[in-house]
Amino acid sequence: MKLPFFKKKKSVQTQFEASSPSGLDSKQAITKLTKGITSIKDIIAPPAIEVDFNHLKINDTYFRTLFVAGYPRFVSPNWLAPLITFERSLDVAMFIYPIEGKGILDELRRKIGEMEAEIQTDVQRGKIPSVHTKISLEDARKLQEQLAKGAERFFQFGLYITIPSESIEGLKTISQKVEATMASLMIVAKPASLQMEDAFLTTLPVCHDKLMITRNMDTTCLATTFPFASSELSANKGILYGINEHNGSLIIFDRFSMENSNLCLFGKAGSGKSFCVKTEILRSLMFGTEIIVVDPENEYETLSKAVEGAYIDFSFRNQAKINPFDLAQIKEEESPLAQKILSLHALLKIMIGKMSPDESASLDRALVLTYKQKGITQDPTTHKKEPPLMEDLYKVLMGMEENEAKTLANRLERYVKGSLAGIFNQKSNVEFTNPFTVFGIKNLEAELRPAAMFIILDFIWNKIKSEMKKRILVVDEAWYLMQHEDSATFLYSLAKRARKYYLGLTTITQDVEDFLESKYGKAIINNSSIQILMKQSPAAIDKIGNVFYLSEGEKNLLLSANIGQGLFFAGQNHVAIHVVASEEEHKLITTKPAELIAMKKKTVAEMKKKEEIPPPIKEIKPINEKPVIVKEEINLSRHPDGPMDQKDPNQNQENKPEEKNPAPKIPLPPEPDKRFSNLQ
Ligand SMILES: Nc1ncnc2c1ncn2[C@@H]1O[C@H](COP(=O)(O)OP(=O)(O)O)[C@@H](O)[C@H]1O
Ligand SMILES: [Mg+2]
Repeated sequence: MKLPFFKKKKSVQTQFEASSPSGLDSKQAITKLTKGITSIKDIIAPPAIEVDFNHLKINDTYFRTLFVAGYPRFVSPNWLAPLITFERSLDVAMFIYPIEGKGILDELRRKIGEMEAEIQTDVQRGKIPSVHTKISLEDARKLQEQLAKGAERFFQFGLYITIPSESIEGLKTISQKVEATMASLMIVAKPASLQMEDAFLTTLPVCHDKLMITRNMDTTCLATTFPFASSELSANKGILYGINEHNGSLIIFDRFSMENSNLCLFGKAGSGKSFCVKTEILRSLMFGTEIIVVDPENEYETLSKAVEGAYIDFSFRNQAKINPFDLAQIKEEESPLAQKILSLHALLKIMIGKMSPDESASLDRALVLTYKQKGITQDPTTHKKEPPLMEDLYKVLMGMEENEAKTLANRLERYVKGSLAGIFNQKSNVEFTNPFTVFGIKNLEAELRPAAMFIILDFIWNKIKSEMKKRILVVDEAWYLMQHEDSATFLYSLAKRARKYYLGLTTITQDVEDFLESKYGKAIINNSSIQILMKQSPAAIDKIGNVFYLSEGEKNLLLSANIGQGLFFAGQNHVAIHVVASEEEHKLITTKPAELIAMKKKTVAEMKKKEEIPPPIKEIKPINEKPVIVKEEINLSRHPDGPMDQKDPNQNQENKPEEKNPAPKIPLPPEPDKRFSNLQ
C-alpha cells in the first residue's frame, strides 16, 4: 500500500494530461476530472517527504523506525510495559501472523532430527555437545509436544517502533534511549537503515508490514506481549480517584503505597481541582487518614461541618491565633531554637520584604536577644518558658543601636501597632486534635495570606513531627506560597521530608506557569509520585507538555477537557481520568454558586413544607385511634353516672386486664390539633 501523498506527483501530472483536449471517452474524462479536483488527500498531504539513509523528514518532524531483531528466551507477562509507557510518544506496530500447525510440525521434526544428529556425532567423536544445541533441542521438543497436543498454536511476530522528534539531535538521543530501554528487556532493536520509507509505512495504522522481519512464537509467548500497561491503574487497595477514560475501569489507588505520598494538582481555575481533592478527602477519612487543609478560599467549610471536622478561621475578628515564636516541643529535634530562628527569618522576609546582608545579621542578633529576654536559650530546659511575641522583637529592634535595626523595626511596625496588628502578635490559642482540621484564611487580606500560610504550615509541621500518624496535608492555592522564595523553599522542604513522617502533601495550584518556572516548584513536582493535570490554558500547555512529556494527543485532551477531566500520573503510568462524585458527596463539596443557591432554596422549601403540611395519615392514626378508645374508657370509669361504676368490677372479666393496667398510665391524648381535625 502506498500513502496518498506519495502519489501526489502523479496526480499533478494527470491534471495536465486532462487539460489536453484530445479525444477521450466520457468514462476516462470523468476519471481525469476527479483526479484533477482537489481532494482531502491533497489537502492533508505534506509538501515534501525527505527520505534519508537513517531517517525520514516529513514537514519539520524527523522519524526513525527501529525493527526488532532479537528477543529474550524467557519473558514474563506484560514484559513490553517499559516500551509502552516510554516517556515520549512512540508509534509501536505489532504484526501477528498465524501459521498453519502441520507445516510447522514437519519442519520441527526435521529440525529436531538435525539437532539430535549433531549431538550424537559430537558424542561419537568424543566431543562435548554444544550447550546451545541442547537447549534449542529441549525447546523444540517442548514446542513440538504442545503443538501436537493442540495446546499451543504457532505464530510469527513482528515488532516495529517509529520515533518522532523535532530535531535530528533529539531523534538521535531518543533513539538511543529507546534502544537502551529495549536492551534492558533483552530485545535487540536496530534502525531499518536504507528502508526508512517502508519502515515508516509499516508503523502506520493501516496494517501493512513492508519489512517482514518476524520471529516465531507460540500462543503463551505472544500473550505476554500484549500491552496491558498504560491503561490500567486499579490497585487492590486504596481509594477511588475517578474513572479511567480509556476503558471505563476504576482508578483505585493508595498514595501511601508509592515511594512518597505527595500529590500535585494543576489546572485552570474552575477545572475541578478542589473538587477532586475533596472527594479524595472524604474517601480517605473513611480509611482513618487524618486530614489537614490550608484553605485560602473558604471552600472546605461545608465539608468540614458535614464530617464534624474543625474549621479554624483566621481573621482580625476571630479568636484563633498562632504565635510564630512558639518553640516546637519535640524531643528528638536538634537545636529547636536555631531552627526556629531560621524559620522566623524566612517569615519576616515574607512579611517585610527582602533584606540586605547587614539587615539579616541585625535581625539574627535581635531574634536571639528577644528569646534571651524571655529566658530562652539553646538549653532545652528553657524551652518550656513563655515564648516572646512579635512586639518583643519590635522593642528589641528599636532598642538596638544599628541603623539597620531601626529600619527593620519601622518596617515591622504595622504588624505590631499599625493596620495589620492583631494577627501575628498574639499568644497561640489553637490546638487541633480533630482528624479533619481546616485552617481558613480567606478573611485575611490577600497581602497577609502568604505569611499566614507560612505560619500555619510551620505550626502544622511541628504538630506532624511531634506525633507520627497517617496524614494528608492539603495546601490549596499553593501559588500564594510560590510568590516568595522563602515560602517556596519551605513548601519544598515539606514535600521532601513528608515521607519520613507518614505524611502525604497535596499541592494544588492554578498558576502553572509560575509554579513550573520556580526551581522549587519543579522540585516539588519531582518529589510527588502522583500528579493530576486538569484543563490547561493554551498559554501554559507547551510548558506543561515539556515537563510531563505529554504527547500531542494528551496536550489536546488537556486543552479541551471538561470540568473534572484530566490526566492522572502515578509513577510510570498515566491515564485519562474523570473525577466522579456521588450525589451525596457532590452536595457537600460543590462550590458552584448556582448549585448552592438551588440547594439553599430547596432546604428552605423543605423546612416550610414541614411546618405547613401535616405528617402523613399513617403516623397520626395510632395517636388518634388508641387514645380515643382510652379516653372513652376513662370517661366511663370516672363518670359518676357511667355504666362502669354501677357494675361490679369483679364480675367484668373483660375489664380485668385493663384494671391491671390502669388507665392513668396511658397518657391522655392531647387536645386534637385543629389542623388535623379533618382527619378524625
Ligand atoms: N468532577 C466533577 N464533577 C462534577 N462537578 C464538578 C467536578 N469538578 C468540579 N465540578 C464543579 O465545578 C466547580 C468548580 O470546581 P473546583 O474544584 O472548585 O475548581 P478549582 O479547579 O478552581 O478548584 C465545583 O464546585 C463543582 O460544582
Ligand atoms: Mg479551588
